[in-house]
Amino acid sequence: MPQTLTATRTAGIAGFSGCNPTQDRRTTRLAYEPLDAPFGVVVRGVEWSDGPPDPQIVDELRRAMRRHLLLVLRGQRSPNHDEANAFWRGFGPLVMETPDGQFHYNRFSTEKAVNNVMRNKAGGNLVVAGDDGMVELGWHQDQSHKPQFKTISLLENVTFGEGAVPTAFRDMYTVCELLPREVRAKLEGKQGIFLDPRLPLPDKLPRLCDAMHPVISSHPESGRRAVFGSDWTTYRIAGMSEAESAETLAWLRDFALANAPYYEHFWQEGDICVWDNFGVQHRRDPQPPGIERTMRLFEGVAES
Ligand SMILES: [Fe+2]
Repeated sequence: MPQTLTATRTAGIAGFSGCNPTQDRRTTRLAYEPLDAPFGVVVRGVEWSDGPPDPQIVDELRRAMRRHLLLVLRGQRSPNHDEANAFWRGFGPLVMETPDGQFHYNRFSTEKAVNNVMRNKAGGNLVVAGDDGMVELGWHQDQSHKPQFKTISLLENVTFGEGAVPTAFRDMYTVCELLPREVRAKLEGKQGIFLDPRLPLPDKLPRLCDAMHPVISSHPESGRRAVFGSDWTTYRIAGMSEAESAETLAWLRDFALANAPYYEHFWQEGDICVWDNFGVQHRRDPQPPGIERTMRLFEGVAES
């Protein structure tokens, strides 16, 4: 049975000991319940307001994110758009407040459907399983084809019908740490060439790249290193022949599949998943028609 713990500053994250004992002993209202998974924790007690969040709550959730990579906020009411923005702005600039984000997410601000699954509704942007179901979404970090890292991603469940597909997460920090020494040596300093999958390839729309990131990148705040990139945004590795790049990317894909700590989240209504979008990738299977599945997107937090 999962253990429910009340976090204190001295106890650190979810009761893990070893944090600085000179910190004060105030207790926040948050409670933690580790998932039965290699990473991730359920967090209860988050509250919303129109104002900036309590710095102690921000500090505690930041620490929890470092420790657990994935937070499942559960049992809270659904925040309105302004409350969500006010809360997550406490963690860094919202993606919509950066040039990259305005470009990437500008379609959120219209009432028009972006495609058959993404719809804008007052106060929220919804991903809705359409009449044809949903196509597979492969492993990725959100916005990896943009120059600026998006460090936090968020999704809220609105409806999750019988047979709806889970969202899967995997830990790319551990993938990086498990790389064989010779592979790591070969990849050190190598830059990935990233393309926006929604745009034509360079033979149709000539350009060198949409972004470049090291194949082994460092988290902009913690410095922790992860294998960064995905099948549908990493076009090739600079400084390698086309064949060597393709072979290396295929090897990395297989290595990640075999080695990444992995968790499938079957959503409970109202769950808000918040994850380290730098070191954690997500995906979902295709979903057949006739099953309700509606998720709400937030703008999230860019590199701060
Ligand atoms: Fe995504």
